[in-house]
Amino acid sequence: MRLTIVTGASRGLGAALADALLEPGQRLICLARSPLPELAQRAKDQGCALDLLRVDLADPAAAASVLENHLSHIAGGGIVEARLINNAGTAVPVGPAHKLPATAVAESVAVNLAAPIALTAAFLRATGDWSADRKILNISSGAAHTAYPGWSVYCATKAGLDQFSRCLALEQRDLARGARIVSLAPGVIDTDMQTSIRAAAPGDFPAQPRFLALKASGQLAAPASAALRILAYMERSDFGARTVADLRDAD
Ligand SMILES: NC(=O)c1ccc[n+]([C@@H]2O[C@H](COP(=O)([O-])OP(=O)(O)OC[C@H]3O[C@@H](n4cnc5c(N)ncnc54)[C@H](OP(=O)(O)O)[C@@H]3O)[C@@H](O)[C@H]2O)c1
Repeated sequence: MRLTIVTGASRGLGAALADALLEPGQRLICLARSPLPELAQRAKDQGCALDLLRVDLADPAAAASVLENHLSHIAGGGIVEARLINNAGTAVPVGPAHKLPATAVAESVAVNLAAPIALTAAFLRATGDWSADRKILNISSGAAHTAYPGWSVYCATKAGLDQFSRCLALEQRDLARGARIVSLAPGVIDTDMQTSIRAAAPGDFPAQPRFLALKASGQLAAPASAALRILAYMERSDFGARTVADLRDAD
């Protein structure tokens, strides 16, 4: 059996990833703030075991504790592959740094950076004596490498996620059953996150015309097709060979 953990399964890319993972014989663990009854029904219809953990990733310590406790009750023996996909993220707050409220900054850093780190640590501890092949995929962004005025927190947290992934990959590389890790920029996807960027006050986000043009020219990927490409990337035999990668360069 293959076990996959997905954060942010309520909407956008995470919902598409969860849908694509609903296969008989899979075990899917979704971390979300809301109950997701439709996903639960589809999992039942597909014969896929679904565990929904209700957590708010703005509290990374609590979320990681819930995940670690849940995994500690799962017998690792029958699991051939265990995967953690840190997908949940937020593009707010948007605006010049001197205007950003401290609470919004702290929440964004928690969701985009501290939670993936804490969940990764929990995953590695809880699965440490499993014989399963272990993979961790962090959903990053081109914003980790390109600086956008008005998007300093998002850019900084995604850059942090990439650098965390590099450090972790070096830690795991020489272990007997070390996990493989990739921080992957998925390209531009037609989700609520893009809608919110297009709706930002133009003065707060000078790069907005670029994102309006991408939408107008039909260059946003559908969440379902992006999810399939990401899952195919996770299947590659060389997964982890390159720690920081971009799905747009993957073919
Ligand atoms: N869309 C793009 O063009 C694009 C490009 C590059 C990278 N990405 C990355 O792809 C990932 C998915 O983005 P998306 O486009 O699918 O965004 P989205 O449509 O805005 O969905 C964000 C997801 O994150 C969850 N989330 C946010 N805050 C949370 C919290 N405090 N606790 C638990 N869950 C929380 C949301 O849950 P709720 O429903 O509870 O809010 C939702 O499921 C993100 O990491 C994003 O940075 C997206």
